[in-house]
Amino acid sequence: MARYEINGGKPLEGTVTISGAKNAAVAILPAALLVSGKCRVENVPDISDVRILLDILEGMGVKLAYPEPHVVELDSSEVQCTTPDPELVKKMRASYYLMGALLGRFGHAHVALPGGCNFASRPIDQHIKGFLALGADVDETEDYVALKPTEEGLHGARITLDMASVGATVNIMVAATLLPGQTVIENAAKEPHIVDLANFLNSMGAKIRGAGTDVIRVRGVQNLHGTTYTVIPDQIETGTLMIAAAATRGDVVIHGCIPTHMEALTAKLLEMGVRVTENDDSIRVRPQGVQRAVNVKTQVYPGFPTDLQQPMTSLLCMANGVSTVSETIFERRFMHLDELRRMGAHIKLMDHSTILIEGVRELYGAPVTVTDLRAGAALIVAGLMAKGVTEIYETSYIDRGYERIEEKLRSLGADIRREKLS
Ligand code: EPZ
Repeated sequence: MARYEINGGKPLEGTVTISGAKNAAVAILPAALLVSGKCRVENVPDISDVRILLDILEGMGVKLAYPEPHVVELDSSEVQCTTPDPELVKKMRASYYLMGALLGRFGHAHVALPGGCNFASRPIDQHIKGFLALGADVDETEDYVALKPTEEGLHGARITLDMASVGATVNIMVAATLLPGQTVIENAAKEPHIVDLANFLNSMGAKIRGAGTDVIRVRGVQNLHGTTYTVIPDQIETGTLMIAAAATRGDVVIHGCIPTHMEALTAKLLEMGVRVTENDDSIRVRPQGVQRAVNVKTQVYPGFPTDLQQPMTSLLCMANGVSTVSETIFERRFMHLDELRRMGAHIKLMDHSTILIEGVRELYGAPVTVTDLRAGAALIVAGLMAKGVTEIYETSYIDRGYERIEEKLRSLGADIRREKLS
């Protein structure tokens, strides 16, 4: 257990480098199960979700090596296990990606249902819809999902998702890679980590086209070969640091990012009156007078990411005027509001998906508790903005998705300390 202690009000200044993308890494690492060979994955973020996932894979017989920081070598040649350790699986949400990888490699899977962030219900009916279409027999209970081939066997299929689900797109794409025939995923998610996963699979010899559009075509191949692959920089960490720079009216260069992944947030910051300039692989955020209130509506990529809704809400707490934030992806992704109100924010819940934020002149430090990963990001941003000291508890949620965030912020001049509690 640990807590962050932030003495707010200091502008962030300097350059910070982004880590590898959590949501790409947690999709790519299980996909290494598909190949009876060695994969070298670089720029892997050192976060607890990745560490848990690697523990799960090792427990299944994947041989792991860590030749240098942020590099993992995985050899799945000896793997025969199709039932990952349920106690570990329950610790992180993306463990459901093991279903697609095991179905694709072995035709069987028995995976406990995951835990992860507790905002909103996190159904997997679209994943199941995909597995059924691919010819799997699905035994789904409250505790696990078990997959095996039906009599007709596993095969490619055309699947139209009811909504552009990131998780379902990942699971179906991975499961289909080694299946005979063609699989077409319609209404597919287009997030950068979907493209990164497709690039990783294609670097192993898969035949996947259309990732990044809403129609992905997978032509099944007989087998794959090992590869070396570098994970893209984390779009959400980039956005969180952009927001923190604006929130503290600092001057920060975020290095090693992909500006085109950030367009929805960049546009909103520019609309607020924040100065944002882009280079090939860096973004600079500087203040420029009054920060105006704006309206934000979360959408699937390339719209405003739901994962940035919470830190953006903190920034809007001190904007000039009244902002609205509409969360269209996850219902009730507002568990951070009470904590922000404790710091002096004026936020009204209009209905289950929309809030009204009346900008205030000051936020005040207070003891606050993290309820989910991106709520943690919101509370860090608010603590950096607030007058006085903010103590942030339950920081383990933050460790799931941000690598050494307190060190990165301290290197930018933030007065933030991490204190062990027990
Ligand atoms: C992924 O979650 C991310 N997690 C989330 O990031 C992110 O918020 C989300 O995509 C949206 O971008 C990982 O990549 C590990 P979805 P996922 O399937 O796959 C509904 C973070 O902070 N839905 O795109 O669970 C679902 O309830 C995390 O890094 C179904 O109804 O998101 C939601 O309303 C939080 N049935 C919407 O679709 C399904 O079978 C989008 O969910 C699947 C999803």
